[in-house]
Parts: sequence; structure tokens; C-alpha cells
Amino acid sequence: MKVLCILANPKPIEESYSKRAGMEFVKNYKETNPNHEVVMMDLYEKGQEHLSYETLSSAIKGNTNEMSDTANYFSSFDKYIVCAPMWNLTVPSILKSYIDHIVVKGITFKFNSNGIPSGLLKNKKAIYIGSRGGAYPFPLSLIAWDDKYIRLIFRFMGIKDFKKIIFENTDKNPVKAVEKFPGFLEKIKTFSKGF
Ligand SMILES: Cc1cc2nc3c(=O)[nH]c(=O)nc-3n(C[C@H](O)[C@H](O)[C@H](O)COP(=O)(O)O)c2cc1C
Repeated sequence: MKVLCILANPKPIEESYSKRAGMEFVKNYKETNPNHEVVMMDLYEKGQEHLSYETLSSAIKGNTNEMSDTANYFSSFDKYIVCAPMWNLTVPSILKSYIDHIVVKGITFKFNSNGIPSGLLKNKKAIYIGSRGGAYPFPLSLIAWDDKYIRLIFRFMGIKDFKKIIFENTDKNPVKAVEKFPGFLEKIKTFSKGF
């Protein structure tokens, strides 16, 4: 079983709630599943770039390129852990840039004869581990697009088994956030056992 953990935050781990939560998840996951391979992918360390014209035009011609390589590599995993902060109601743009490289026709999705898209990634699962400065209970949840977007685009690629766990109010109440974080890490442990 191969697991990809994607980190989308320029902060060092000790300053980031989402990174610390993600690393705790991975640590516990590895303890439960010592034979599974977990690959860490820090998009900032990787230097993830926006789609270039060169890559796009070669993709349009159907050539092998940065998009097909990235999408094939992504497809080779069985499970995905996505860790990100909420930035301006959604995920950091570096994660969107990565997604722009993996949603590739013929690799992660296809169009059927009626032109309806369907995902090509089957029997895979994902979890989104996030953090937010504020809280988004309904109806504010309607404008929180971080987890919703990742769920939607993963589903587009065929990944239907999707869970999320989000730590909120980190900026609204920083003192309480520090107090509450150990309890959140306990929840993370439980989620990692069921993943
Ligand atoms: C550029 C930027 C944009 C942000 N936008 C939002 C936002 O729209 N809503 C929110 O609740 N918090 C927002 N925040 C606060 C972060 O979500 C919050 O600090 C979170 O805990 C960061 O996660 P981290 O500790 O893993 O970096 C923003 C922070 C930054 C740096």
C-alpha cells in the first residue's frame, strides 16, 4: 500500500497547525501500518510551479510532459493525505497549481461517449487535514472552500472515499487554540487508525 502525504504550507512545522497535525497523522498511521510506504511531498520544498505554456501546449499535442509525469506519479498511490491551511477561504494556490498538473484526461479522468467526465482513480481514499483562523459553522460553511474544493476535485478523479478533519479558530482565539490542540491531535490519532 502506497500513501502520498501532500503538504502545502511555507511555514516550518513548529509554526504550522496543519503541518503538525499532518505529521502526527503520518506518525500514527506508520505505527498502525508499518509495512505501508508513506511518501512526503512538501510542495514548497518541491518548488511546485504554475502550469507553463510549454507544458500546456505539449499536453494539448498529447506528448509526455510535466503534467502526464505528475499525474502518473499521483495515480501510483493508493491513499492521499492532504495538509493545508485555509487561505482566503480556500487552499494555498501552490496546491491548486499541483492539482492543475494532476487532473489530466486519460490519466486521472476521461470523457465518456456522451461527453460526461468520469474519474479514473478507483478504490482509493483521501483525507484532508486543515487549519483555519476562524470557524465556519453553517451558514458560514457555505463560503469555506478549502476542504470542499479538495473533496470535489478528488471526486472528479474518482476518489470517493474522502474524510476531513479541520482545526479552527487558530487566530480568532490563539490562547484557546494552543490549549485545544492536544485534544485535536488525539482526534487525529483516531482518524489515522481508521484510514
Ligand atoms: C494568506 C492568508 C490567508 C488567510 N485566510 C484565511 C481565511 O480566509 N479564513 C480563515 O479562517 N483564516 C485565514 N487565514 C488564517 C489561517 O487559516 C490560520 O492562521 C491557520 O491556522 C493557518 O494554518 P497553519 O498554522 O497550518 O499555517 C489566513 C492566513 C494567511 C497567511
